[in-house]
Amino acid sequence: MKLARKKIYLITGGAGFIGSNFVHYLYEKEENIEVRVLDKLTYAANLRNLKEFESRRGFEFIRGDICDAKVVKKAMAGAQVVVNFAAETAVDRSIDDPQSFLKTDIFGVYVLLNEARKNKNLKKFIQISTDEVYGQILKGSFMETSPLNPRNPYSASKLGGDRLAYSFFATYRLPVTITRASNNYGPWAYLEKVIPLFITNLIDGRKIPVYGEGKQIRDWLYVKDHCTAIYLLTCKGADGEVYNIGGGQECTNIALARQIIKLMGKTQRDIEFVQDRPGHDFRYSLDCSKLKKLGWEPQYNLAKGLQETVEWYGANENWWRPVKQKMDQKYLTGYWGRK
Ligand SMILES: NC(=O)c1ccc[n+]([C@@H]2O[C@H](COP(=O)([O-])OP(=O)(O)OC[C@H]3O[C@@H](n4cnc5c(N)ncnc54)[C@H](O)[C@@H]3O)[C@@H](O)[C@H]2O)c1
Repeated sequence: MKLARKKIYLITGGAGFIGSNFVHYLYEKEENIEVRVLDKLTYAANLRNLKEFESRRGFEFIRGDICDAKVVKKAMAGAQVVVNFAAETAVDRSIDDPQSFLKTDIFGVYVLLNEARKNKNLKKFIQISTDEVYGQILKGSFMETSPLNPRNPYSASKLGGDRLAYSFFATYRLPVTITRASNNYGPWAYLEKVIPLFITNLIDGRKIPVYGEGKQIRDWLYVKDHCTAIYLLTCKGADGEVYNIGGGQECTNIALARQIIKLMGKTQRDIEFVQDRPGHDFRYSLDCSKLKKLGWEPQYNLAKGLQETVEWYGANENWWRPVKQKMDQKYLTGYWGRK
């Protein structure tokens, strides 16, 4: 009897926050798979996120850079599904030093696409883009067809990767699908991200730094809901199409801080207003009806997702404590300094 060939997934950036959650989700969904993770292991990565798969048959971790065609070629061999999470992702860092963002988030995407073109087994290439490519919106919500107007070097670089991926569909018919998600939160996020920063600062009895007056609005997406959407798109996403993925949970930063404070039994005195980010986008908001037509609905509202996230960081101090010890103080007290 001939055994069915295993489906091979290449997950780039799979040792980071969303990528590692996605690897966990894949193994929950499917058994007969091989998963290759290609990751450069930047400051944001953590191999402990993938520890339980280390000795699993069919799981392979490759340390390497998506800008390196030789490594990418090897990692790509025979893969049917490629999901590109690999990116420089921190807006504040991109303002300080954009170069690595241009390299990974544009050139790296080109290298991946170019190797994907040579891969005869490829069925789907998912480019993980971001809602930040639209820029800010003061009223209403962005559709996939809305104008693109990124306002910081991170989002501008991500737009380069996003449109490059589309161009490989339009030009070479590469089966590319692009996702634009809103702000994620949940387990295994590097601690410069605002929600784990607030939670772990409060556990440590530190203040939580809120940029400006905290009036900016973000739409929060629990990472598990993000993973279900990406998985659905690996199966049902149309080639050459973009899909917005939002949690539908808009909240000002100050309201978010207050919600976390309440959940953790802390007080308003634990908030410190700090210098705002230059060019800080005021509001993001996504219309996700295109994705919902494929059958996706987020399962987490902000209250439920925050509760689980607070519990997770509370129970996993051994994961985040060593990360936090290595971090520069400015991430803990406000990147742009005290007011
Ligand atoms: N976090 C969010 O809220 C959010 C929202 C929308 C979209 N996104 C996108 O989702 C993707 C994942 O974001 P995240 O929050 O998990 O980021 P992250 O910073 O936690 O992880 C990024 C991973 O990519 C790896 N990486 C970086 N440069 C690389 C390179 N040149 N070659 C190989 N690996 C490299 C890092 O080592 C890390 O493991 C990114 O593309 C990001 O733009 C994130």
